[in-house]
Order: sequence, then structure tokens, then C-alpha cells
Amino acid sequence: MSDVIFQPLGFRNLSVKNRVFRSNISGRFDNYDGSGSQARINWELKFARGGVGAIISSFVPVHPRGRIIPNYATIDRDERIPFWRALGKAVHDHDCKYILQLSHGGRQRDIPDLEYPKGQSSTNKKDPLHGFECDRMTIADIKDVVGAFAEGARRARDAGLDGVELHGANGYLITQFLSSAINDRTDEYGGPLQNRARFVLEIVKAIRARVGRDFHLQMKISAADHNNALALLKHEGPGNTVEESAQVCKWLVEAGVDAIHVSTGSSFPHPRNPAGADLDVGMLSHTYEQLASSGTNTFRNLLLFHNALTAELFRKQWVEAGVPKDQIEGLTLPDARTIKQAVSVPVICTGGFQTASVIRKAISDGDCDGVSIARPLVANNDLVKQFAAGRDRADKPCTYCNKCLVHVVEHPIGCYEESRFPSTEAMLREVMSVFQPPAFQ
Ligand SMILES: Cc1cc2nc3c(=O)[nH]c(=O)nc-3n(C[C@H](O)[C@H](O)[C@H](O)COP(=O)(O)O)c2cc1C
Ligand code: SF4
Repeated sequence: MSDVIFQPLGFRNLSVKNRVFRSNISGRFDNYDGSGSQARINWELKFARGGVGAIISSFVPVHPRGRIIPNYATIDRDERIPFWRALGKAVHDHDCKYILQLSHGGRQRDIPDLEYPKGQSSTNKKDPLHGFECDRMTIADIKDVVGAFAEGARRARDAGLDGVELHGANGYLITQFLSSAINDRTDEYGGPLQNRARFVLEIVKAIRARVGRDFHLQMKISAADHNNALALLKHEGPGNTVEESAQVCKWLVEAGVDAIHVSTGSSFPHPRNPAGADLDVGMLSHTYEQLASSGTNTFRNLLLFHNALTAELFRKQWVEAGVPKDQIEGLTLPDARTIKQAVSVPVICTGGFQTASVIRKAISDGDCDGVSIARPLVANNDLVKQFAAGRDRADKPCTYCNKCLVHVVEHPIGCYEESRFPSTEAMLREVMSVFQPPAFQ
């Protein structure tokens, strides 16, 4: 029988040539105003050439107020369509599909925006980690943002892309409505699960009304919030359970969602996402400075990372609140299984995948229909081609050190695990290769 990894995956409106999706990940490649750059196209082409069936973009804001960091391309106006069309065409030339992640950060950001220094959310409580302030959204604000998601989907379709994904995971605006630990509203968008799901269900209905039924639409969801995993946040509630998320997924499918992408954790980053074997607090104290000074918890957080003792305590706590290194690969599979049993559409699972036999077993056992991979593909862009050649794992796998994560706020995205390269120079050459070819030659 043929290898299940290389069997096509059929969705209602989309067919993907194999079961491996590049999970959402990128760096700050674009212009400050959200217009796209050649470096983003170069980045995506690394994975299209490496053999993944589809690429799911990183966070693409549907509205300027929903930006989380400067220099990420947006889809908030029609002027952006030609860039996304060029990117989609370049990826399609490698027989790879392209799904754009429609996103809004709400109160959770990395670096606040020049035009909209204050975020908006289901609540008016600051985000607990950085202390980013936000306004509680009015009903009119909610309608505006729902409309922005629908227009984003229409622009992605007009750009010839293969589908869109709602970023309903990892603490961004949709999670801020879904999560019982964050949403403190007393109106029809807060309280019971049905009310907390109203915002995302309105987005799905608005997208279907705008683009029709024949354009691929999937939802990335944090199956379990684990909201108080860190001792620092023990005073908060645990947030949504997998069972609650399974119910939300049923409603999403009824409303017109074609696939579910299962993630975990009510914030980004979260000790379980991306789950790490370590946390480079030394580098974090350097790259985190801009973030720290943007929120209201600046003094606490700078002290935390700049003092050797507290930095080490935080590192230990962060790693311990995740999972042991040998359990990182497939850590979200039990959640994916629960959700798959609840819905009739394909389920994609994210979290640590980089071994062909593990992926094959996950699909064969019915835990999920496909997997998405971020860091292990950053480490080995051609991992899928290696699987096709019969290799079970790359010679130099991703170590889950999360150095890519701590660098990304300030430096180009890439693998920063020196032990995987013959020299520091070779590592930096690979990181900088995303700028080749340049925009102007
Ligand atoms: C640097 C970095 C940036 C990421 N950006 C996004 C993003 O924009 N949207 C998203 O849904 N997930 C994002 N993720 C999460 C990944 O897509 C993925 O779900 C997670 O890292 C677990 O998969 P992995 O173990 O294969 O890396 C990011 C992860 C990293 C490390
Ligand atoms: S820096 Fe490299 S090895 Fe470390 S987690 Fe990122 S991709 Fe993996």
C-alpha cells in the first residue's frame, strides 16, 4: 500500500498532494506599512521547493489595528492583492497550495503599532504577560472586525490563493472571545460557550456570505487553553477544555468551516506552543527589550530576564510548564483525536512533528488527517523530500531549542541552533539566504 503521508488530502474545496502542511511561521520581512516584499516570497519558496503539500501563511492582519508587529504583510486593503497574487503564483509553480491566515491580534501583540498603540479585545483587562492595554470592543467594533475578516477572505480569493485559515488559536482576538479565562463580557458575546463562540461564528457566516461556499476555509484553534500553566499566571483560570473546543468545532463546521487545525495554549508563545526543550533567556533579555518597554509590566519583566537568578527561575518554570523533550513530537495529538471524533471535516494537527513514522502512525490511527510543521521545516526545509526518499528523520533534526522563537522579534527568522551547522558563519549564511534574490537586481 502506498505511504499515507503521500496520499492526497481532499477537502470540500481543495485537494493537497500530501499530508504535510508548512505551519504558520515567518519573520519581519515586509515594509512597515504592511506591503509585501520579495523576502517573504523567498521564504515561502524554501518550503514549496522542499515538497510540502501546502503552506499556511503566518499571521496576516485583516485590519491595521490587528497587527502584532511591524513588517508583516497585511490583507487589510485591495492594494495588497497584487502582492499576494505574486506570492501565490510563485508557490503554485512548485505544485504547492497556499492558504492565508486571516488574523487579528486583539490585545496580544509583540510590538505595538504606531497608528493604533492600543489594542482592542473582548475585555478591557491588560494582557497578563506584557501588560499591553486594550479597549473592550463595542458591538459596532465587533461588526467592523467581522466585516474586515470577510473582506480579507474576499481579497485572498481575488489573489488566486487556495484558501484561508482563521487564526482562532494562541491567544489572539478570536481566542480572546472563545476563552473563558479571558472573555469577561456580560453581553451576548460573553458568558456561556455559545455566547463566547458567537464572534467567530459570525466571522464564518460573513465570510461565506462574501465568498460563497466554494472557497476553502479552515480554523486554527487552541483545543485546550492551559491558560494558567505558568506559576506567574496561577491566579488566572485554566480556560477552555478540549471538550468545549470540540463543541465549538462542531458549530464551526455547521457554519461552513472545511477543516480544523488543532493547536494548544491561550497565549503566544506558551510553554506548550511552540513546546521547547529549552529557552535561551540570555538572548531573550536582548531581543525582548522592545516588547518589555511597550507594555506596562516593563520593570517586572526586564528585572526578570536581566537578573541571572530570576532569569534561570523563569527558564526552568517555562520549560517545566511545557512537556519533556521526548514528548514534544505530537504533543497535541490526543486533542486532535477528540476533535476529529466530533467533526466530519479533515483535521490537521500541529506540534513537534519531524519523524515520518510518527506522522504515518498519527494518520493511520485516525488521530488526524494531516500534520502541520513549523520549526522542523525551518531546520530542514526539504524534510518532506527526505521522507519521500525513505528517510525517517533528518540527520540534524530540530532540537526544539526555540532559539528561532527568541530571535524572531528582532532578527530574521531562521534556525539559530549552532550545533546543527559546521560554523556560526554557515548558520548566519543560511539565515540571511532569505534575502536572495533581492527585490532589485
Ligand atoms: C517564530 C514562530 C512564529 C510563529 N508564528 C505563527 C503565526 O504567525 N501563526 C500561527 O498560527 N502560529 C505561529 N507559530 C506556531 C507554529 O505555526 C506551530 O503551530 C508551532 O510552532 C508548533 O509547531 P512546530 O513544533 O512544528 O514548530 C509560530 C511559531 C514560531 C516558532
Ligand atoms: S532554532 Fe533551529 S533547532 Fe532550534 S527550535 Fe528553531 S528550528 Fe529548531
